Amino acid sequence: MPSPVLHVVGARPNFMKAAPVLRAVEALGVRQRLLHTGQHYDAALSDVFFRDLELPQPDVSLGVGSGSHAAQTAAIMVSLEEVLVAQPPPMVIAYGDVNSTIAAAVVCAKLGIPTAHVEAGLRSFDRSMPEEINRLVTDALADLLFVTSPEGMDNLAREGIAVERLHFVGNPMIDTLLRHLDRLDAAAVRARLQVPERYVVATLHRPSNVDSLRAAERLVAALGEASRRLPVILPLHPRGRSMLESAGLAELTGVRVIEPLGYVDFLSLVRGSAAVVTDSGGIQEETTVLGVPCLTLRPNTERPVTITHGTNRLVTPEQLPDALDAALAGGQVPRGEGPPLWDGHAGERIAAVLAEWLRA
Ligand code: UD1
Repeated sequence: MPSPVLHVVGARPNFMKAAPVLRAVEALGVRQRLLHTGQHYDAALSDVFFRDLELPQPDVSLGVGSGSHAAQTAAIMVSLEEVLVAQPPPMVIAYGDVNSTIAAAVVCAKLGIPTAHVEAGLRSFDRSMPEEINRLVTDALADLLFVTSPEGMDNLAREGIAVERLHFVGNPMIDTLLRHLDRLDAAAVRARLQVPERYVVATLHRPSNVDSLRAAERLVAALGEASRRLPVILPLHPRGRSMLESAGLAELTGVRVIEPLGYVDFLSLVRGSAAVVTDSGGIQEETTVLGVPCLTLRPNTERPVTITHGTNRLVTPEQLPDALDAALAGGQVPRGEGPPLWDGHAGERIAAVLAEWLRA
């Protein structure tokens, strides 16, 4: 009997991408195991997603925890190598652009274990973002690249990656969103959290936004302005909390800071919101499908399809108030149809390619 393939996940945005792939691989009868690196370990960033997304418990947990980029990536590499040497899988499947992803790609390349990268080809062309380094290295090393949007195919072709390795499959994160759409009940979450009928949801955690006092102060000023229009609900990632507080976040009466939410609660809140203000990657995609205006506090995006085909706009903190006025006035609606193949079946396409590859 062939050994099981191994899925490697580690951080919050991995879980919603892996769930549909695990389900579709299981349906094809391919044996698989799930490994959690422990990059995210708080219940609010990890356990709640396993429950909400009906993910199986990990077969292996590395428990690496936090650290500098080098320390965290190296710790994952050392522990993962031991697991892979003890029981080499025919294929490792890694997701997204977090440190767990690049760690898996590098270890597998050195051990000669083939890898698949789900969400390949995204590029911000901004190498000051740690995720951009993770994407470039993972895509250079992966044997199968599963691409979520057309410009991803162009980016990879420009980097000289052989076309036989590329598969344009659509977006598994959107599979998860569509699967759980009926559970997204904004009224129930609003009642529980005592949120008024019209509100803005904000999320902030990127190093470029929350790791320096100057950047945090610009953001806090912008959120203060935004909250003069509508109440702002901010489920806050642990990273950056103290910097945002030093920049005066706690003094903003119109901004309600809450703990990070689970998958269903968070997207329920987003679904019912008048607009979202964020620096996340995945939320740009989810708002595009939910039709909620998204104002992204970044100078660039690796997901331009959310601007050309969706509800996303890039803004500086100084542009946020005017952009929010325009969005609230209805000036920010999706253009035409949504991105191609964001239809809820990416996981099945990925599983079919994986199964065929394993047979060959
Ligand atoms: C990581 C990803 C980022 C993604 C984000 C989503 C990388 C390089 N970055 O960033 O792309 O958008 O996840 O959440 O992989 N912490 C906790 N509890 C946890 C985990 C982290 O309190 O369970 C705190 C620690 O102080 C830690 C900090 O958050 O040092 C950063 O965690 P880390 O995993 O390094 O990166 P994220 O900022 O979460």
